[in-house]
Amino acid sequence: MYKTHLIIFVITLLILVIYLKQNLNINIMTFVYLTLLRGIVYQSRFWWDVCDILGVNKSGIELFNMIENRTRNSFYRIQVGNKDINIVMDLENVRAILDGSPHVFGVGELKYNYFNSFMDKNVGVSNMPEWTGRRKMNEEVLMTNQIHSVLNNLIKYTKTVVLSNPLPTKPEHFREMSRLITSYTVFGEKADLPDSFFHIFKEANSLSIIDGPVKVCPYAKAAFLNVMNQNMNRCTEGHKSLTERAAMLGYNDREELVNQVPHWIFPIFGIVNTFLPKLLCLLCNNPESFARVAEEVKRVYDDKEIYASAVNCHTPYMRHCILEAFRLNNPVIALSRTLLEDGYKFSNYHQKFKQGDQFLILTAGFLRNNKYFFSPNQFIPDRWKDDCLENKYSSLMWSQGPQKCPGKELSIMITKILLIFIIIKLEFNISKISCNYKLDNNNIDIINHFRLMFEHYE
Ligand code: HEM
Repeated sequence: MYKTHLIIFVITLLILVIYLKQNLNINIMTFVYLTLLRGIVYQSRFWWDVCDILGVNKSGIELFNMIENRTRNSFYRIQVGNKDINIVMDLENVRAILDGSPHVFGVGELKYNYFNSFMDKNVGVSNMPEWTGRRKMNEEVLMTNQIHSVLNNLIKYTKTVVLSNPLPTKPEHFREMSRLITSYTVFGEKADLPDSFFHIFKEANSLSIIDGPVKVCPYAKAAFLNVMNQNMNRCTEGHKSLTERAAMLGYNDREELVNQVPHWIFPIFGIVNTFLPKLLCLLCNNPESFARVAEEVKRVYDDKEIYASAVNCHTPYMRHCILEAFRLNNPVIALSRTLLEDGYKFSNYHQKFKQGDQFLILTAGFLRNNKYFFSPNQFIPDRWKDDCLENKYSSLMWSQGPQKCPGKELSIMITKILLIFIIIKLEFNISKISCNYKLDNNNIDIINHFRLMFEHYE
């Protein structure tokens, strides 16, 4: 069954690919369909393999460049299903949309349909008025604007996981490590995230979300809710985990949390499972950068204990490497929005838009654009020494504006903690690790983490 689907899909794509070079609209459609197949939040192996086989661009970069070369317009309109979607080509309009979210620009239809398939209340990026309360909860629980001692517990836990196990070298090792780190961070040590939990993301990943929320299999939804509820019941032990912290801060509405907590689980899982191996691959291909990071690790490890505050203050180059690796491999490949008011006019565009109009921002198109980043396809961590760069609207990895990711600093911190213990495990010796993927450092492609294998020389 699976094979038949794969064959039909590959043949259909092959036919499409024949037209790719000539017809921009078909190119865009392929990209949108692939994005949906990839899953708005779940990166399936199937999707990566199809892209690799067909040589289809995975991130929308080439597509963005192609549109930019053909038109000087600020928007490029395409039709997906029976809906028009406006691809945003101009950074000024990106800024207007993100600054106007969620008051003027609400959740994009595709994203809404995807999340609404299994989360009845909270659909990804919330609309007003619910957003105000949820944003406050997210910022307080995820420590958006502070470094909280809860991270010192995470440091201790990560130390045990990394130092007492063999170094992760294959995709399945990173996956196992993700389960441990995610369940500990979100629910505390005793939590369990079985495969049945993650199945829901695949269920909702369907091309049908073009027309509306998908009807997911009731068993998959029940399994998902069961895992959520069981783990929430365990969270009664102080404030070591995010859910315990939510309870401590007075956020006890169970229904609300069951709809919010998956938005914490998935990205943390992705950081360890997907992003960490990509970062290691980039560092293995850039040994001077690896050595500079190792020097910083020595500095924070000198006193044999590591504290969140020290990690935060004394590892600026590691932060720059992480930002650069996210820029080159940003997991959120598109931001989507719905216009909430009629007759909206962008200051630099002649036409007015109407309520319900859809907008798509291809993030990688900006992140790999030489208008905003010099030598955009090279790994240059030092570019982030310019502090202003992180807040520019072109730095879209965690989005910008009022709805920008409240988990940005937590993402960076979790990555730093993992990298520190991996480097300690390697005894600060870069030559103790190698990667099977040799990157073209002048033109770095999106890294397929399913193919990454590392070798650890004891
Ligand atoms: C892997 C690293 C991460 C990336 C690249 C990322 C990226 C993003 C982006 C681009 C958005 C805005 C989406 C949009 O406007 O449509 C967002 C929103 C959000 N992210 Fe993250 N994120 C990451 C990690 C995290 C983590 C670790 C958490 C929580 C533990 C988190 C929680 C959220 C939440 C709750 C929102 C919705 C914010 C709101 O509606 O105000 N993210 N993220």
